[in-house]
Amino acid sequence: MQKTMIGKSQVSASAAVIAGALVNGRPNYITLGSFGGMSRNPPTVYISINKAHYTNAGIKENGYFSVNIPSKDLLEKTEYVGRVSGRDTDKSGVFKAFYGSSTKAPMIEECPVNILCKLIKTVDLPSNEVFIGEIVETYVTGSCVTDGKPDMKKINPLVLAGGNYCELGQPVSTAFTNRTAPPSQMPR
Ligand SMILES: Cc1cc2nc3c(=O)[nH]c(=O)nc-3n(C[C@H](O)[C@H](O)[C@H](O)COP(=O)(O)O)c2cc1C
Repeated sequence: MQKTMIGKSQVSASAAVIAGALVNGRPNYITLGSFGGMSRNPPTVYISINKAHYTNAGIKENGYFSVNIPSKDLLEKTEYVGRVSGRDTDKSGVFKAFYGSSTKAPMIEECPVNILCKLIKTVDLPSNEVFIGEIVETYVTGSCVTDGKPDMKKINPLVLAGGNYCELGQPVSTAFTNRTAPPSQMPR
């Protein structure tokens, strides 16, 4: 198989999320592609934010942040809070905020999934701060739950891929099956 070396590009497909934090006492929202799960026990996630952004100080000051998954119908607002800084523009009115067991980070009512996180570690990279949060509680909009579980089709998240917002496709198989037989296709 011929491979093309393309330098040091990050090639990935990930959900677009919106982090929420209180900055100078006011809700602020920032769009992120750098988000992911880190461990199940305790349940932890990370978000990576460039040091130039306004949100960072609020996360560090309050020790809490939220991660909210917007659905496709929130595309315009997702792009807006990812293009405009809270340093110059008050973004607190873009969404309706709600609070869970902690009043130290706003969550977004309009987003079908909301994850409240307590900051447990900050990793200092040259350009970014990686905030690792322990999940305190997760909320899902009732209409996006099927058989007691979050229903990704109804959540309809935005997937960032190749510089575009994409829609989630159809499932092709269940994951975490008990299949342990060697795959039928193996390199020759
Ligand atoms: C689709 C999209 C994904 C983004 N992902 C990230 C990211 O992962 N990390 C980051 O630091 N900034 C990211 N940004 C940029 C910030 O969202 C943007 O600079 C924002 O205006 C910063 O807001 P703040 O200054 O109020 O914190 C992204 C923007 C968009 C539109």
